[in-house]
Amino acid sequence: MTAIFRNLALAATLAALAGPGFAADPALGKAKARQCSVCHGKDGIGKDPEVPNLAGQSAFYLEKALKDFREGARQDRRMSLIAKPLSDEDIANLAAWFASFKITVEVPQ
Ligand code: HEC
Repeated sequence: MTAIFRNLALAATLAALAGPGFAADPALGKAKARQCSVCHGKDGIGKDPEVPNLAGQSAFYLEKALKDFREGARQDRRMSLIAKPLSDEDIANLAAWFASFKITVEVPQ
C-alpha cells in the first residue's frame, strides 16, 4: 500500500519536473498573436522604436519575458496589462509561434 503511494508521489514529482502537461502549439499561438501584431507586427518586427522584435527570438526568452511582465518582475505600461490575462499555456503557445519565425541577419562590414 505505502509502496503504491510512494510510486504515485514519484510519478507526480517526475511529471512536475517534466514541465506543464501540454505541448506548446504554435498554431494556437498564431491565433492568439493577432492581438500582438498592432505593435510587434505580423512579421514579429516591432512597428515603433520602443517595441522590440519578437521574430526568431528563443522560446525560452519569450516565455520568461511574458511571465516576468505577468508577475510584475518586469514592468511596462503596455506589456504588464497585456500579459496579465495570459495563461501558462497561452504564453508557451505565443513563444512557440514567434520562435518559429525564420530570420536572417546581415552583419555590417
Ligand atoms: C500596445 C503595444 C503592444 C502590444 C499590443 C503588445 N506588445 Fe509586447 N511589447 C510592447 C512594448 C512597448 C515592449 C517593450 C517593453 C519594455 O520596454 O520593457 C514589449 C515587449 C514585449 C516582449 C519582451 C521582448 C524582449 O525582447 O524583451 C515580449 C516577449 C512581448 N512584448 C510579447 C508580446 C505578445 C506575445 C503580445 C500579444 C499577446 C504583445 N507583446 C502585445 C508593446 C506591445
